[in-house]
Amino acid sequence: MIAVYPGSFDPITLGHIDIIERGCKLFENVIVAVLRNPSKTPLFTVDQRLNQIRDSINHLANVEVVSFDGLAVNYAKMRQAQVLIRGLRVLSDFEKELQMAHTNKTLSSEIETVFLATSNEYSFLSSSVVKEIAIFGGSVDHLVPQHIAIDIYKCYDKTKLV
Ligand code: PNS
Repeated sequence: MIAVYPGSFDPITLGHIDIIERGCKLFENVIVAVLRNPSKTPLFTVDQRLNQIRDSINHLANVEVVSFDGLAVNYAKMRQAQVLIRGLRVLSDFEKELQMAHTNKTLSSEIETVFLATSNEYSFLSSSVVKEIAIFGGSVDHLVPQHIAIDIYKCYDKTKLV
C-alpha cells in the first residue's frame, strides 16, 4: 500500500521524521509531499525544503520526497496511493485534522486518512515552535536535524554558526 504524507514542512522537525519512520514500517512506500502554497510566505523555499527532507530521511529505503500543487487527495490518486498520513500530537490538533479528513473524504471516498500518534517526546513540537524559538535566539538543536538547525541559524542568528 502506498501512503502520501502531505504537509508544509517549513521546516521538517524531528516530530515529522518520527511519523515518516513509523509510516515506513506500515506502508510499502511513503511519499512525503510538500504543498506548493502560494498563499503562504514560508521561511524556506519548496526546493530548500525538499533538500532538507531528503537529507533527513536518507536512512529510509521506501520514501520519496516530492512537491505537489492542488488537492492532496488528487495528488494521492494520481500516485495510486490509498492513504493520507497525518500526525496527531495533542487534542487541539484533532479538531482541525478531523475536519480535514472529513473534507478529504467528501472529495475522494477511496482515500483514507490514517492518523499516527506523535511520539510523546515530540508532542509539543511544530515547525512554528521551532521558528519561534529561533527568532528569539534559542537553540533548536534538539528539535530538528543538525543540517536544518544550521539552515535556520543562517536565517535568524548567525552567531550560532561559529
Ligand atoms: O503541515 P500542514 O501545513 O499542517 O499541512 C496542511 C496540508 C498541506 C496537509 C493541507 O493544507 C492540504 O492538504 N492542503 C492541500 C489542499 C487540500 O487538499 N485541501 C483540502 C483539505 S482541507
